[in-house]
Amino acid sequence: MADPKENVLMEKIVSLCKRRGFVFQSSEIYGGINGFWDYGPLGAELKRNVKELWWNTMTRMREDVAGLEATIIMSPKIWEASGHVATFSDPMIDCKTCKGRFRADQINDISCPQKPSKMVSECAGEKTAPRPFNLMLQTYVGPIQSEENIAYLRPETAQAIFAQFKNVLETSRQKVPFGIAQVGKAFRNEVTPRNFTFRSREFEQMELEFFIKPDEVVEAISGSVATPAAAGHPGEPQPNWGWQLWHQYWVEERVRFYEGIGLDRSTLGFHIQTPEELAHYARATTDILFKFPFSKVDEQGNVKGDELEGIAARSDFDLSQHERFSGKTMGIFDEELRTAWGKLPKEKQDDLWRRYYQARKNYLEKSGVKPEDAEKDATEDANGLAKGQYIPHVIEPSAGVDRLILALIANAFTEVTDTDDKGKSETRVVMKFHPRVAPVKAGVMPLLKNKPELVKKALAVRDLLRPWMNVYYDDAGSIGRRYARQDEAGTPYCVTVDFETLGEKPELLDTVTIRHRDDGKQERLAIGELRDWLLARGR
Ligand code: GAP
Repeated sequence: MADPKENVLMEKIVSLCKRRGFVFQSSEIYGGINGFWDYGPLGAELKRNVKELWWNTMTRMREDVAGLEATIIMSPKIWEASGHVATFSDPMIDCKTCKGRFRADQINDISCPQKPSKMVSECAGEKTAPRPFNLMLQTYVGPIQSEENIAYLRPETAQAIFAQFKNVLETSRQKVPFGIAQVGKAFRNEVTPRNFTFRSREFEQMELEFFIKPDEVVEAISGSVATPAAAGHPGEPQPNWGWQLWHQYWVEERVRFYEGIGLDRSTLGFHIQTPEELAHYARATTDILFKFPFSKVDEQGNVKGDELEGIAARSDFDLSQHERFSGKTMGIFDEELRTAWGKLPKEKQDDLWRRYYQARKNYLEKSGVKPEDAEKDATEDANGLAKGQYIPHVIEPSAGVDRLILALIANAFTEVTDTDDKGKSETRVVMKFHPRVAPVKAGVMPLLKNKPELVKKALAVRDLLRPWMNVYYDDAGSIGRRYARQDEAGTPYCVTVDFETLGEKPELLDTVTIRHRDDGKQERLAIGELRDWLLARGR
């Protein structure tokens, strides 16, 4: 159980989020709706920055990833193929006395989602046996509410990527290995939404499906398969990488991303899924965790953290499922494989054939295909190698936007105590966001509101910066108060126009004061340099 002191911190964070407009309860004027959250003015900017940084890092800055934006409602067949209709469920139990509904695996660990520090008093009433509860939110498409018109709000963005794999491959002129990235809403009818936005019923995901050659194909082309030699980032991708190196690469790339937006490695944790936790088709999954204020503390006082993102090596399961369910081929043709195969000695061909055949047969049998059909299909698949055909495998880094926003907010939250000349102390909040994600990049202010020349110049500075970044103009109250307001919003820099800007000291004409949020230091900068100075720090 999280330490109560830390839940006090969670309460402070929730209250700041409301007070400053980061996060509001959805439908608050009607008493709210459990598991749904709105982002206020600062939260909306923060979220946009995070999604844009992810998109830029994962697609625009890379040669080997293309983007996709698919619909939320798709053919229900997609969710049959993916396994969500049959198995996407949590074990649910009801209390016969208080009528409470709980996830069986969390029955001893229930906290109030609105007030994470308040434990819901758990009645001792008799509980029902656990039963599976499908998490997909269901609706009807068209005017008739009948069984055949049932559709689902997507529970993950990933499946659209698999379903559109061929279209993207053909239109983007990418070649395996390459990835498809998507950011968008997902919906899960969570039994017990909890820990503020951490487990919501409507949330956003940032997912990459990175398609790679099966190890047998890498071996046929490169002669051998490179496997991880050491911990850490394995460097630039190489043609002989097998799935393990690609998996390690993506874990490390994602950690670099988090570090680049201010989440130090010490704030993160890792969970390597055990064989019992892994889905039958998954080769490995590493979860990147963040040490949230509500994360559990073990007996030794260590905090492992809670999941921000999972990076899964999912074999060729997803494309294979869609191939079987849609009847459309999801395999690709690889000229390099065909040429290499023809040059391989017979024993090598036989060895690779057998391994590929075995992997395909395992998948088919575990997916419910009759053994004789599985043998026939696996034989056909393995024969495809000689023709340069195979179904790509996939590495899936799948991150939650809302969890990351919560992590960034918790990480930024800092209380500082100022003592004035008369010895009076005041504690206030400084949100130490990395400039890259900060909702407002710069506060722009005239030293005094009642001096038209200062106001005019400050507005001109605001207009100069506005096309390039989100800035906030503020002329209300003392300059100290205005700085404090920007500190609480997490604005890394304040730009003040004063009399020196207007030429009181001729050598300082057209310069402004830059005040740094984290240490209060001030420096002078020419207005002409301001934009590039801020962009260099906030991008
Ligand atoms: N396509 C793989 C997939 O969806 P997942 O572990 O179920 O995997 C990926 O979800 C990420 O989505 C999680 O690591 C988490 O950040 C986010 N996520 C999942 N369920 C969520 C929920 N109920 N509320 C907020 N974020 C959630």
